[in-house]
Amino acid sequence: MNSRDRNANGRARPPGAPGRPQRKKLPHERPLWLRPEDEIFFITVCCEPRGKNQLCYSNIGRAIFDSVEFRNQNAVWYAHLVCLMPDHLHALISFPYERPMRQIIADWKRFLATKLKIEWQRDFFDHRLRKEESYREKADYIRANPVRAGLVTQLEEWPYFWTADPQESASSEDRVLRGGAPGGRALPILLAVLVFLVGCRPDMTNQPKATPLSESDFFSNGANARRPPAHTVARGDAHEDTAFYTGQTNGTYVTQLPVKLTRDFMIRGRERFDAICAECHDRTGSGNGMVVQRGFPQPPSFHVDRMRNAPIGHFFDVMTNGYGVMYSYATRVEPDDRWAIAAYIRALQLSHNAALSDVDSADRATLDSKK
Ligand code: HEC
Repeated sequence: MNSRDRNANGRARPPGAPGRPQRKKLPHERPLWLRPEDEIFFITVCCEPRGKNQLCYSNIGRAIFDSVEFRNQNAVWYAHLVCLMPDHLHALISFPYERPMRQIIADWKRFLATKLKIEWQRDFFDHRLRKEESYREKADYIRANPVRAGLVTQLEEWPYFWTADPQESASSEDRVLRGGAPGGRALPILLAVLVFLVGCRPDMTNQPKATPLSESDFFSNGANARRPPAHTVARGDAHEDTAFYTGQTNGTYVTQLPVKLTRDFMIRGRERFDAICAECHDRTGSGNGMVVQRGFPQPPSFHVDRMRNAPIGHFFDVMTNGYGVMYSYATRVEPDDRWAIAAYIRALQLSHNAALSDVDSADRATLDSKK
C-alpha cells in the first residue's frame, strides 16, 4: 500500500475510496517549526531580587541546561546558547511559528521556578537580531559577560555557559575583550533602566501549574499529561455505531445516509456547508471559494464524476480525518452535522446533474406544461 492510499493520520483508506489527484509537492525544505535562521532572539531573564546569586550553583546550572536541552530536543524552541550570571541569564533562541515566544519563555520560567525555587522578575527582555548584527558578535558578547563582570579572567573558566554547538570555541576572545562589543556599555545601562521601570512584583504568571506537554518532576515518567486507565471510555466516547461515527461498515464506505433525511436536516446541512466549507469549496461546490482565490490550493469540484461516484461515507470521512492539505473538521463539526453536510453535498451534485427522469411525475407535468 503506498502512501497515497493513506489519509493525513496515516490511516489506511478503505476500498472504494476514490483515487487521489496528483499534486505538486509543497516546499517543505526547512524544518517547519524553525523560523528562518535570521530570526534569532537575544533573551534576557532577570531574577528577583537583583544582586543575589540564584543561578550560579552547579546543581542549579545543570538543571537549567537540562531544561534547555529538553526543549531543544522536543522542538519547543531552538536555543543556540545560554549564559547564566548570578542574578540573570542571557540566551540566543529561535522560536517555532505556532506558539508565541512570550508563552514559551513564561512556561520555562514557571517550570524553573517550581522545580528549582528560582524567583524571577516578571517578564523578560527580548531583542531580535537585526540582519546586520552577526550572530557571532552577539554570541561573543554574551560569552564575555562573566569576564566583563570580573567573575573570571578567562572565558573558558566560566562553567555556567551552555551552547548547542560543540564546536563553540573561545577563538574570538581577543577581539571581544579588546574592542568591547557594540553596545557593550549601553546594554547593561539600558537593562538597568528597564528593570527599574518594569518593577518587581511577583506575577500571577509565576504560579505553579501543569500544562499538558510540559515536563514534570512529580510523575516518574517525567510527563505532566496522564494516560487514562486502560479499557476506560470517557463519557460520550463510546462510539458503537461505526457507520454513524466513521462512515464505514467492515472497512468499506457506506453508500446510504445512516440517519433519517428530513427537510430540516438538509437545511441544516446547507447552513453548515455555507458557513464552514464554502470559503474554499464555494457555495456551489465547484472549488473556487474566496480562500482559494487568495492562494490556498484548489479542491476538486464536487461536480466531476470521481466525486459524484464517491460513496457518501467518503465525504463524512474527509470531514472527520482531513484529506491531503485539507484539515480535519472533527473538532469543529459534530458527526450529526457532518452527515447533514454530506447529504447537502449530494443535493448540490444532483442539482448540477439531474435528468428529466429524476423528476417525479407530478412535477414533470408542471415542467412539461411550461415547455
Ligand atoms: C481551507 C479550505 C477548505 C475548507 C474550509 C474545506 N475544504 Fe475540503 N478541501 C480543500 C482542499 C484544498 C481539498 C483538496 C485536498 C487535496 O487533494 O489535498 C479539499 C478536498 C475536499 C474533498 C474531496 C476529497 C477527494 O476525494 O478529493 C471533499 C469531499 C471536501 N474537501 C469536503 C469538504 C467539506 C464538507 C468541508 C466543510 C466541512 C470542507 N471540505 C472544507 C479545502 C478546504
